[in-house]
Parts: sequence; structure tokens; C-alpha cells
Amino acid sequence: MIYHKILVIGGGLAGLRAAIESAPKVDTAIISQVHPVRSHSGAAQGGVNASLANNPQAADDNWEKHGFDTIKGSDYLADQDAAELMTKEAPGCIYEIEHWGCPFSRTDEGKIAQRPFGGAGYPRTCYATDKTGMYMLHTLWEVSVKMGIPLYEDRVLVDLVLDGDTCRGVICWNLKTGEIEPFMAEAVIFASGGSGQIYGRSTNALISSGSALAAAYKRGVPLKDMEFIQFHPTSLFGTNILMTEGARGEGGYLINSLGERFMSKYAPKAMELGPRDIVSRSIQTEINEGRGIDGKDYVYLDLRHLGREKILERLPGIRDLAINFVGVDPIEKPVPIQPGQHYTMGGLDTDVKGATKFKGLYAAGECACVSVHGANRLGGNSLLDTVVFGKLSGRAAVEYVQGKKDAKQGEAAMNKCMRETKAKIEELLSRNGPENHADIRAEMKETMIKKVGIYRDKKLMEEALAKIKELQERYGRITVQNKGKAYNVDLIRAIEMEGMLDVAEAIIVGALKREESRGAHSRLDFKERDDAKFLKHTVATYSPSGPVITYSPVTLGKYKPEARRY
Ligand code: FUM
Repeated sequence: MIYHKILVIGGGLAGLRAAIESAPKVDTAIISQVHPVRSHSGAAQGGVNASLANNPQAADDNWEKHGFDTIKGSDYLADQDAAELMTKEAPGCIYEIEHWGCPFSRTDEGKIAQRPFGGAGYPRTCYATDKTGMYMLHTLWEVSVKMGIPLYEDRVLVDLVLDGDTCRGVICWNLKTGEIEPFMAEAVIFASGGSGQIYGRSTNALISSGSALAAAYKRGVPLKDMEFIQFHPTSLFGTNILMTEGARGEGGYLINSLGERFMSKYAPKAMELGPRDIVSRSIQTEINEGRGIDGKDYVYLDLRHLGREKILERLPGIRDLAINFVGVDPIEKPVPIQPGQHYTMGGLDTDVKGATKFKGLYAAGECACVSVHGANRLGGNSLLDTVVFGKLSGRAAVEYVQGKKDAKQGEAAMNKCMRETKAKIEELLSRNGPENHADIRAEMKETMIKKVGIYRDKKLMEEALAKIKELQERYGRITVQNKGKAYNVDLIRAIEMEGMLDVAEAIIVGALKREESRGAHSRLDFKERDDAKFLKHTVATYSPSGPVITYSPVTLGKYKPEARRY
């Protein structure tokens, strides 16, 4: 049995940052499905928020203003202590990664450059052209290599080992060998990313299936606020590749078929830099009301007025993507875009140190719900979340492990879970039914985007729930065609599928029960925010017949919930 004192699940930004925090003090290893520099963090483009006040228009910016923007952006569902902790920690985390070598873009004075982003009162988004996530990821990866942190790559987490109220380790599938591997630990930090692949039209990588989160959910770790799914306003029409918010931060316009900058109707002050929930809804409304370009499901992101030089300097990545994927050079033509599923605000329920309700089990980054993003995350706060809560969860795990007296106590629980996993995979491989898990996946994705998307109502969501139940039943009759061992992607996709359906169900049931509109959860049958009934977190606990929903209080602070105007 492989043993490390701390295991970090995921080699993206949150996982690397957690491991960098814990490895100098306690034996730590990283388990990752892909090589860390291929993690989905690398797809983050426009930047990371911190109140450095480097931009002349943000000379009086500070962490409190960043905290307020985050809380207002969240439609007051963020826990105010958590949001303030994140914004207070932000400048230190950015200077730290800068000193580790992250090549941020610079002002003329040589300071870290900052651009405007949506929902923020100030230009406070630090950036490295439009490849910020990629540069941050490579920087942290290099630090982890320098520290010699062991990495187990090509491993897919298939189960979490809990022993009563204590976490003992995880069970992984080794993609290379096709064997099940037990990893025992004193503490496990989940940093396994989001669940975007549950939806059609997602900006997320294929690895963002949420299957690790689903394994924890099935073992009893509650999920919080899963109904809040972020749609990024500008994903490339056809492929839904991200077209960064930085494009609007640099001054890009959104234009409908009448040539109007339609955001003047929806967010007259902030215009294209309203928060993402509002901008996505505005685009979708234009499309629904027939003002998409040529009556189709997209509007234009127009950058032409920014000029060649600015586009080449600040937005070279999205220019390449637009040229390569839709044959449009943004210097010359407007880019066809539509909202795409982008981020899961909810996740494994944690406190501000990343601790779950199980001893020794932590979570950070997109798979966690601390909660700092509430009902709607601000652009630029996800990269920040990864480095802040990666660090804090790593630190908390170290404290826990150092105070622990009963090392290596989990062998019986590990062996039991190994046997269960082995039996489960053998049973899956032995099925010989008429169903195909790829069809089930495609139908789930279509259901989620069409019926639990930007605009929701009871009827559509009930239809979606019935469909997910049908897909769960059909899943019992799939055949995994590939019975081989090495790189059996057919098998891995089949294993993932079960958990994705469980998570989809938790999203829908939470959304059905939340009879109000708040942030990214916009119901046509309950159009108003209802603080009296729903200023509370949704907590979903797994049961075989579906999620059991309870609620927990939102931590309020100095900001009273108000109407959001931008
Ligand atoms: O638009 C973007 O560059 C994405 C940033 C984010 O999701 O924070």
C-alpha cells in the first residue's frame, strides 16, 4: 500500500499550492489524472484579483473594497468572513507567486499590471497577457519540482476511504497499468477541480468531470450550493472555448443583430463589465428575443476598436483561438460568442481552512465550497481562490497531521474499500446490456444545458430530474466495450458517468427547492431574491434514492443584503 502523510488529489493550481505549503513540513504527495501542466487551471485566461492598487484608476483600492465587490457579486450568499479572508490574503499570495517567477504583465513602472474585470469597482485583475492560469500553473509546477514533491500521475480517483468520522486515504485507478491502487494517508486534500462536463456547452476540459467530488459525495461528504452554476458570457460559438473577460476588460463591446451595445439596457453603468450572471442573462435574453446574429444562438464580441497593437499585446491567446476555431481575426472582424457553462460555485462543504466534516479530509479550489463565491463568482476570483485556499488547506492539514498520534491506523478500512472497488469494477466490466455510457453522457449534457441552464423553471427542472433518473436506470444496463487494462478510457468514462449523474441530480434537486432567483440561479417562476426564505446555503447529502437537502446559515458581516445594481 502506498503511504504518504498527506495526499493531494489534483495537480492544478489549488493542489500544487496546497502541496507546496505542506511538503516542507510533512511528507506530501500529489495524485493527478493528467500531468499537472495539463490541468484545467491552465485554461484560465484573463487574470487573478488582488487589491494591489497598481493601476492609476485604482489608487485607493484595498482588500475591503475587493471583499465588498465579492460579496455583492455573490448576491450576498458568500460567507462574509471567508470572502474577506480571501481578499485580505490576496496581495500576499500574488507577490509570493511573482517572487517564485510568475511572469505577470507589467505597468510602465514595472509593477504587476491590472485590468478591469466584471463586477469590480476597480481595475484589480493581475494578468499575464491572456494566459494567466497557464503561467501561474507552470510557476507552481516548477516550485513543486524544485521541492521534489512526489507525483503520481495518470491516476484517477475512484473512491475515498472513510473510517467512521476519519479519512484514511483514497483508491485510484492506474491508467497506465489498469490496476487499482490504494493510497493511505493521515490527511487528504481534494483539489480535483470543477464538474463542468456535466453540462453541454462548457468551457471546461474533459477532465473536469467532477468524478472525484462525486466519490466523496457518495461516501457521505456533503455538497454545498451545487445549484449555482456559472455561465461565462463569452465562449466561442461552436466549441465554447473561453474568450476571456479580459477582452471586455480591455474595452470590448457586446453587439446584437441590430448593431446595438445591448448591455446599456441591462447594466447601464457597468455595461459589458457587469457581473457574469447578469451579462450572461443579458446575452441569452437578446438571443431568446431574436436579436442573435442572423437569428442564431450567438452575439458578437467586438474588439476591432481596440486596435491591432493592443490586441496583440494583451489578448494574443484569444486572437489565436478565434482564428483557429472560427476563422475570425478579432483585429478585423467581430467574434461570435454565446454564454457557456464555466464554473461550479458549489462543491464539497468546507470551513475557511478547507476542513470538511471528516477528520483529515480537506478540499480547496473549484471542487470546494468554502463559500467565497456564493451565488455568483466574480471573474478573477477563481485563480485567487486556488492559491489562497490551497495554501490554507495545506497549512490546516499539516497542523492536523502533526497533532495526530495514531499514524497508519486505517489498514482495515483501506482493504475493505479496495475489495469493494475491485468488485464494483469487475461487475461493471461484466455487464452486457444494450446501453452505451457515451449516449448517456450526451443526453445528460443536453438535458442540463437545456433544462437547468441560465434560465430555469419548475417544469423544465422536473423534466430534467426525471431524465437523470431514467439515465441512472439505463446506466445499470451499459456495456463497457474495452475489457483491456492500459489506458482504458472507455472504462474510466463509464466509472465517471455514475458520479456525474449523482452530481447532476444534486444540482437539480437543490435548484428545484430554491424557489427564488439569486445570482446564477435565475428562475422564471420565482423572479425575485427571497432573503427571508433563502438567504441560506443548500447542503446535499447523498442517499441511494436521491440527495437529502438541508440548509445551513450564511455567515453575514458588515454588509447587509441589498438590491444589486450595476
Ligand atoms: O474570462 C476569464 O478570463 C476567466 C476568468 C475566470 O473565470 O476567473
